[in-house]
Amino acid sequence: MPQTVVLRPWGDEDLAILEANNAPEMMTYLGGSETAEKVAHRHRVFLDGWTNDDTWVFAILVDGTPVGSVGYWPSTHGETPIFEAGWSVHTPFQGRGYGAAALGLCIQDARARATADRRLLYAFPRIDNAASNRICEKAGMTNTGEEAFEYPKGVPITCNAWAIDLVAPAPSPPGR
Ligand SMILES: CC(C)(COP(=O)(O)OP(=O)(O)OC[C@H]1O[C@@H](n2cnc3c(N)ncnc32)[C@H](O)[C@@H]1OP(=O)(O)O)[C@@H](O)C(=O)NCCC(=O)NCCS
Repeated sequence: MPQTVVLRPWGDEDLAILEANNAPEMMTYLGGSETAEKVAHRHRVFLDGWTNDDTWVFAILVDGTPVGSVGYWPSTHGETPIFEAGWSVHTPFQGRGYGAAALGLCIQDARARATADRRLLYAFPRIDNAASNRICEKAGMTNTGEEAFEYPKGVPITCNAWAIDLVAPAPSPPGR
């Protein structure tokens, strides 16, 4: 039976999603598990983001069950104002297309916030994060090349810079 992936703006009840995101196997490419204080702070930032309308993070729901998070926020790439996206799908739910579907919905949401001055959405998965690089490709993003990055702050890593133009029309699904 087809399953429905929807995004719901981050809510008070979603701390449990961040706690599951923080499992060691989920944090392999993100610098390892964080402290409970840091997770609680992230939850606050996600809640405040909707209140302040400056960071838009969603719970990913599959037939109503929370399976992870996806979101985006304003950032810069060099001197260029951009949106940056990030995501996690909990281990038992991975490999079923939910990550790519959620990223596609997130890009759709971001299109409404794009302007002539901030029209590109980027993601920076570590080059060895095969699943994350793949969902960028599946969601129609373009790999613009490798870049040196720091994540967490102070830890040098090499990422692929994937980008999509939010103002350009969305590509038609194959076969249309
Ligand atoms: C990245 C992540 C969200 C993907 O979620 P998901 O629901 O499994 O994604 P999907 O099922 O939509 O797609 C995963 C794709 O990656 C592929 N993939 C997964 N592991 C892979 C690997 N080791 N090597 C090559 N491809 C891999 C899958 O085959 C699938 O591609 P396909 O549909 O062409 O077969 C999930 O793995 C995750 O949360 N990882 C931990 C957190 C993280 O790294 N976040 C991102 C930081 S940039």
